[in-house]
Amino acid sequence: MESLLGKRALVAGSSRGIGQQIAMGLAQVRCNVVVHCRMPGNAEQTLELLEGHEIETSVVTGDLGTDEGVESVIQGVTAGPGHVDILYNNAAIMNEWQPVWEIPKTAWQDTFQVNVFALIAMCNAFAPVMVERGYGRIINLTSGIKDTPQLAPYGVSKAAVDKHTEDLAAELRGTNVLVNALDPGWLRTDMGGPNADHDVTTVLPGVLVPAFLYDHGPSGQRYAAQDFRSDEQHAAA
Ligand SMILES: NC(=O)c1ccc[n+]([C@@H]2O[C@H](COP(=O)([O-])OP(=O)(O)OC[C@H]3O[C@@H](n4cnc5c(N)ncnc54)[C@H](OP(=O)(O)O)[C@@H]3O)[C@@H](O)[C@H]2O)c1
Repeated sequence: MESLLGKRALVAGSSRGIGQQIAMGLAQVRCNVVVHCRMPGNAEQTLELLEGHEIETSVVTGDLGTDEGVESVIQGVTAGPGHVDILYNNAAIMNEWQPVWEIPKTAWQDTFQVNVFALIAMCNAFAPVMVERGYGRIINLTSGIKDTPQLAPYGVSKAAVDKHTEDLAAELRGTNVLVNALDPGWLRTDMGGPNADHDVTTVLPGVLVPAFLYDHGPSGQRYAAQDFRSDEQHAAA
């Protein structure tokens, strides 16, 4: 396994939930973390959790539901830490539960803006710099959701994420910028709700696996964080 010591990761949507766990896992292996959330105040809890790990932290903000917000995130990195070696496209939204026929077009648009168009813009902004530097790991959070037409905008957006992950991996073949999808499992977060199968902490260490991939390793693959749970986590989850 490669060391992430001294590398820098942007974790989109790391103020809470799975993104916060990713940020903590990266800090534990001494990877510098750029925390992202919508409003500056939302980052405080994550920043507190990252204290004491001897890493550099910074915060970028921006609502990925707007093009201006996406640009704010990209500019925040460029004007701040400068570049990222690892990009976790973790921020996402889920539409309200509704009969599929009644889901308004705006729900499809809003969900695709955050889950797909913002993700594509982030890849477009950061992947070329990774190519120039000869190293990059892009990890796109996907979902195992299926047979849930009431959440179709969310489910279809994640299918688009999977497809874009494969296409981008093909584009970047040979560059050592690896692009993979990561299914965290169904977790008790604000999005997953209280009835989900697993505690949010069970995403570690699995969420880190695609970041730790060796040079010119697998790309265009799908990883499942729950495959890497320890026996203790199995018992607790
Ligand atoms: N939870 C599950 O069971 C589950 C299952 C499969 C896949 N996933 C995927 O895992 C990822 C994380 O899910 P989660 O459960 O941790 O979600 P969550 O608890 O709802 O947290 C969402 C994170 O994304 C950020 N975010 C949401 N909307 C945003 C926007 N418009 N602009 C910028 N940031 C925004 C939030 O920032 P603020 O705090 O600033 O709002 C927050 O940090 C998502 O991609 C999700 O699809 C989750």
